[in-house]
Amino acid sequence: MKIDKFKVEDWFNKYEKDALYDLADTCVDSLSLEELLSITGDRQKNLDEVFNRKLNYGDIHGSRRLKQAIASMYQHQNSENITITHGTIGANHLVMLTLIEPDDKVVSIIPTYQQHYSIPKSFGGHVNILYLKEENNWLPDLEELERLVGTDTKIICMNNPNNPTGAVIPEEMLNKIVDIAKKSNAYILCDEVYRGLNHEGNPFTISVADIYDKGISTGSTSKVFSLAGLRLGWIAANEDIITQINNQREYNTISVGILDDFFASLAIENKDKIIKRNIEKIKIGKKILTDWASKEPKVHLVIPQGGTTAFIRYYAPLSSVELCKKLQEETGVMILPGETMEYDKYLRIGYGNNFEQLKTALEIFSQWLSKF
Ligand SMILES: Cc1ncc(COP(=O)(O)O)c(C=O)c1O
Repeated sequence: MKIDKFKVEDWFNKYEKDALYDLADTCVDSLSLEELLSITGDRQKNLDEVFNRKLNYGDIHGSRRLKQAIASMYQHQNSENITITHGTIGANHLVMLTLIEPDDKVVSIIPTYQQHYSIPKSFGGHVNILYLKEENNWLPDLEELERLVGTDTKIICMNNPNNPTGAVIPEEMLNKIVDIAKKSNAYILCDEVYRGLNHEGNPFTISVADIYDKGISTGSTSKVFSLAGLRLGWIAANEDIITQINNQREYNTISVGILDDFFASLAIENKDKIIKRNIEKIKIGKKILTDWASKEPKVHLVIPQGGTTAFIRYYAPLSSVELCKKLQEETGVMILPGETMEYDKYLRIGYGNNFEQLKTALEIFSQWLSKF
């Protein structure tokens, strides 16, 4: 089956290894196993447990322990309506594989992870795009959404908190999106990989799975728990949807790695400690970024409210691809061009990592920008 090139991943493959300053990363300072075990405590007990595990397939749809830990991050989910996947990328793919058929009408809200529009298209779906706008603080225009979602729309694909903009959809607005979906009985796939990283107040934004029977939430340990290397994700949705998804899943997963399942359980059971650590870190990076943006006349930033990325407008006579190529060639600073997310004149900056590097790289970027 033909599918468009995944532009963000392609950019990473080409440029990340040579970057001196990586401002494209979306994780929060990833944890080593040693760091994880020191946060969770009971180091030796946990190591003994993992070393003595038989390396069989484990629980096919994920261990009960893991699913219970995941359910604890939702208001109305339990282990029966969760299934475990290979990251959020595997979760999104499985949902679409299960629900989208040729000629289905799909509405995708962008900018977002490219899976949400390129996979439906590759399955023969008709994809209508809602483009988020900076002047709306990167929140969806509900009138426009209502116009795009026809009576025959099968699924709305979205992402909240949003990568790249860092916008968080308020509860009231999410309820209105659900009302729009209900009118056409459409599913909502909400990629919630950054859920748990709201910068202020409750770190957990409301989940679409908790407020809509046809709402499907996907997530993982990658961003919120700084454990992308576990490749551990999940889907939360009503039991009927999960049963359909599991039927597809039998053909491409069997089970995830039992070591991943074990360490993910441990991390999520200690979610308060890890999330506190991560939000403290994000706030350091966010302050560096916002201080810089407030003094740099050639950029404009809508301040992100959640997640680890910001989407910055720049004022220079170059496309975002040209800018990022030249910038990296001449200075070693890697930034992601907005064009990889279908938006020219914007750049995505990740600010959850290497704060000294972030500060220096932004200064270098400013100096470089000053020649335009
Ligand atoms: C919005 C979004 N969805 C999914 C993914 C994939 O994440 P995972 O590591 O959980 O597969 C990413 C990774 O950057 C992302 O930003």
